[in-house]
Amino acid sequence: MKRRIGILTAGGDCPGLNAAIRSVAKTAIIEHDMEVFGFIGGFKGLIENEYIALTEEKVSGILTLGGTILGTSREKPMKKNHPDDFEPDQKSKQIKKTMNLLQLECVVCIGGNGTMKNAHALSKIGIPVIGIPKTIDNDVWGTEVTFGFDSAVQICTDAIDRLHTTASSHKRVIVIEVMGHDAGWIALHSGIAGGGDVILIPEIEYDISIVCNYLMKREALGKPVSIVVVGEGVKTGKKRTPGPYLAKKINELTGIETRETVLGYIQRGGSPTATDRILATRYGQFATSLIAQKQYNSMVSITNNILGSIPISETAGKTKIIEPDYELIKTARSLGVCFGDGC
Ligand code: F6P
Repeated sequence: MKRRIGILTAGGDCPGLNAAIRSVAKTAIIEHDMEVFGFIGGFKGLIENEYIALTEEKVSGILTLGGTILGTSREKPMKKNHPDDFEPDQKSKQIKKTMNLLQLECVVCIGGNGTMKNAHALSKIGIPVIGIPKTIDNDVWGTEVTFGFDSAVQICTDAIDRLHTTASSHKRVIVIEVMGHDAGWIALHSGIAGGGDVILIPEIEYDISIVCNYLMKREALGKPVSIVVVGEGVKTGKKRTPGPYLAKKINELTGIETRETVLGYIQRGGSPTATDRILATRYGQFATSLIAQKQYNSMVSITNNILGSIPISETAGKTKIIEPDYELIKTARSLGVCFGDGC
């Protein structure tokens, strides 16, 4: 019998998932003469033994497709799955049954940091896994960049470009809230690419009065139009302060007409950028080559554009956030961008 592998996509979807599925399947079939089974709806499909055969025909024409042909979910493979404290339960018994029924040697888990934690838990009950890091948030520890991130930054940048023209027509301040969970990668990169005047990220504690003084100073200098880019995870103390809240506060405290846009799930939709198609394809091919060499229980990674891998145990349960001395923050500050902490 041919070697057989499974593949699943879990967590929030993003552009590039189908490029990764296609790459794993084509590499496995063409280069390693394997058979590939795609599980429906993330770990749920593995638990319930719901799958489709991923043949070359099945993955033909999906490179440019947004979303995932397998579907996704946030279902966990077992109740408790903290890297150091998990308990096999009914769900993990069903997963083992699926592995045996289909005679699978490994499961490729494509997902964010939650998925890597779940994949690590599977490896601890003897199910070989390979992780491929995906998420628009770019917050997977252990790799420089996840696929999905470049597409989200492009979508946000396009949105900011559009907000500049309407803000200019009305001489307004516009606040745009972007995704990114508890990290500010999307806000920082799209804020710089889109020429944001204020960029608020969860990693930098901000003071609303500093932001408002900065905006009023701009107005006094004859620049009443400003764009404020805020990551959804931004807080004051423990309290999340999303875009609409900030727009209201700025309007009240400065008297400048202010509006807000919450970009939401647009950031997760549509066809992947060329950069994400290439990264997803590279990750998929490399992940499959690790399986061919029976190097399981790793997550593929990229550093200085060189592919590698780290033990899945090393990334499980961790989040990659922006360090205060990150070069792009220094660049933005040099251009006068306000981070709400002393501009
Ligand atoms: O992880 C990707 C992401 O879009 C985050 O940026 C966002 O906070 C979260 O997923 C939304 O989760 P859901 O799709 O379950 O509403």
